[in-house]
Amino acid sequence: MTGPWTSEARQLAFDQAVHEHYLAYFTRAVKQRNWSPWHDLPVEEMRARGHLLSEDTANLIEGFMGVEEFVSDYVQEGLVAFRESRTRRNLHLQWGAEEARHGVAWELLLKHSNARTETQLTEYLDKIRDSRWQPQQHAGVESPLATTIYAMIQERATFYHYQEVRARVRAEYGLPPAPTPEERQRGYEIGASEACRLVTQDELAHHSLFLHIVRSALKYFPSLTCDTLTQVFAGFSMPALRFIPKVRTYLRSVKRTNLYSEKIHEEKVHKPVLNSLGLEDQQAFEHAARCAHALPEHFDPEEVRLRRSGEWQIAAAHA
Ligand SMILES: [Fe+2]
Ligand SMILES: [Fe+2]
Repeated sequence: MTGPWTSEARQLAFDQAVHEHYLAYFTRAVKQRNWSPWHDLPVEEMRARGHLLSEDTANLIEGFMGVEEFVSDYVQEGLVAFRESRTRRNLHLQWGAEEARHGVAWELLLKHSNARTETQLTEYLDKIRDSRWQPQQHAGVESPLATTIYAMIQERATFYHYQEVRARVRAEYGLPPAPTPEERQRGYEIGASEACRLVTQDELAHHSLFLHIVRSALKYFPSLTCDTLTQVFAGFSMPALRFIPKVRTYLRSVKRTNLYSEKIHEEKVHKPVLNSLGLEDQQAFEHAARCAHALPEHFDPEEVRLRRSGEWQIAAAHA
């Protein structure tokens, strides 16, 4: 693209960038990251070591299963929002297919570890249908861009949670934090740790996909993207949490295990998200958000760089 950089030209360039991000994500998803909860989990090892898992670990995984099981609401909302865009629609379908296997993976982990009976699992899953999640339940999530920003943050938070639970599982199994030489050699981790690894790997890929889209939005629509980031940051909370069955049991275990708090969100989610967007910290972001409005109207996106300090730098020849 050579310009002139009208808003239509910027939209076109952004759409092309999104398509490239989708293609890279889809290719890795089906060529390298494909797995099935019914075929690729070491269930015999889960059975053998299930008694080692603590009640808190089981409660956390049950809560994760609950949140994942709202997948139909997440997908439905996205398909409405992105109905006009073939790329975004297809992206959403692939993403939803991956989310669908997460609830199943957590269910099978709980079942084969003997942490929950089949009856308990069925009762729990049946209750999910009683509530409905909508993005509007989160302040500031009202546009396709806001939904994408929300997804970027939520996937990062989910990645962090699952990584922490994988560490708990490994400690309770009596394993070191990193895979042992035997696990590395055979290509998968022991029992429940493997389920955690597979799901965690998906969440990181999701975070990375939405991050790339938001970075492109920041490049082509800096002021709008900064304003939307500000809104979504301010209203962020995890999806569907208030709707999951046995929510008190889950939240008690979250507190007891120190899985999540405002401080943890700040350090493990918010700050890494800002860093991945190319910013040093919150102060740098606020600076970038203020200065984005002062960029020239038809600026050339290839000539503008966002520095870690939050300054927008325009290449000398065009300044
Ligand atoms: Fe998931
Ligand atoms: Fe995800």
